[in-house]
Amino acid sequence: MLNHRYLTQYKDPESFVEGAVEFIQKHVKDKRVFCALSGGIDSSAAYLLLKKAGVDVLPVFIDHGLMRIIRGKEERVWIEETFPDVKVVDIRDEFLPQIYGEGDAEKKRKLFKKAYSSTFDKIIREENCQLLTDGTILPDLEESFGVEITELNESMSFDDEKTLREAQKGLGFVKSQHNVEIEYDVEATVQPVASLTKNQVREVLQYLDMPHDVVFRKAFPGPALAARIVGPVTEEKLIFQKKIHDIVESAVDDFYITKHGKSMIINEKGEQEPFQVFAATFEDATNAEVTGLKDGRRTYDKAKCVSGEWNLDQLVKDGLTLTNYTRLFYQLGENKEGKFDAVIRCINSIDARTANITNLPYELLQEISSKLLKVPNVRRVYFDVTTKPPSTIEYV
Ligand code: XMP
Repeated sequence: MLNHRYLTQYKDPESFVEGAVEFIQKHVKDKRVFCALSGGIDSSAAYLLLKKAGVDVLPVFIDHGLMRIIRGKEERVWIEETFPDVKVVDIRDEFLPQIYGEGDAEKKRKLFKKAYSSTFDKIIREENCQLLTDGTILPDLEESFGVEITELNESMSFDDEKTLREAQKGLGFVKSQHNVEIEYDVEATVQPVASLTKNQVREVLQYLDMPHDVVFRKAFPGPALAARIVGPVTEEKLIFQKKIHDIVESAVDDFYITKHGKSMIINEKGEQEPFQVFAATFEDATNAEVTGLKDGRRTYDKAKCVSGEWNLDQLVKDGLTLTNYTRLFYQLGENKEGKFDAVIRCINSIDARTANITNLPYELLQEISSKLLKVPNVRRVYFDVTTKPPSTIEYV
């Protein structure tokens, strides 16, 4: 299998789109391309570029049942409205029973990886696709290969890349990326947004006249809500997680839209603010192992839960010097009758490699906490004040 990547350095959306369209036409010609739409901005941009290039592309959305709800709308509905020709493949009945009860973070990731790759391969065969396109972007490549993209070639064989990755692994800074490491049953992949950062992808989407909700969509992890339900996933927790997530993301979006006219800004540090905003579900946040980041590796330890005076700057500083804990959670509210804890995570970032805590007003956090405490089963509500590093963005 070959990987074709458009690696020309980005200058502006207009020249980028022109160059990417030529690149796509050169590598696709009259072949049929499988395109997995995840709901995220990177794969949406890749798909739109293929459409613009006028090639034969099959957009596919895999509904495994663990996608978020935003403003009362399931991701699947949103995708169907935005990309009416999408083929939705419903694997909920096979997939959910496999993940229910699984508490181990790595096993959850593996289940997703397996479900995606086997579903992709099945559709690629059934639909006679010779090529595959995806939304691999610049940070994915640089993190996976441990080299700058200027050191990669436009077309590389999967085997050559494997050798390169293995060589770099010895140097100790290679992160695994499933979109770079899986070999699918196609002749080649076509990666038109490989030279872009997240923010450049947003500029391209804006240039392609995509609506606000698409341009400023917050990143969402491959293992979906399984990355935000700490411990075993159950049907009850999944329903709970979808509810609390919607409350948190919608409230913060509304706050930014009222204040800035859009749900995300570029702040003075050049970060997307907020880059991600979400809720996480815990059986008991005072007694759960969550991920941290030490020497470039994921670690697992408990979260330190505190209450008392609200001073975000001080709390963030305290979060930087934790020992024997991976996180610092500030308690916003409590309902002793509840069953699950809800953690609010809201971070600013350039490319998800590092993250700062969004300086949300305390009144807004209180308002969100009050709304969450009205959801059946919510016990305690926390705000996570830990930057990346020493924590990670997600919890597994
Ligand atoms: P972490 O939690 O590592 O997240 O700080 C960095 C960025 O990656 C997303 N994320 C994932 N994406 N598979 C993915 O496709 C994963 O297993 C995964 N884990 C985290 C996360 O949402 C953030 O944007």
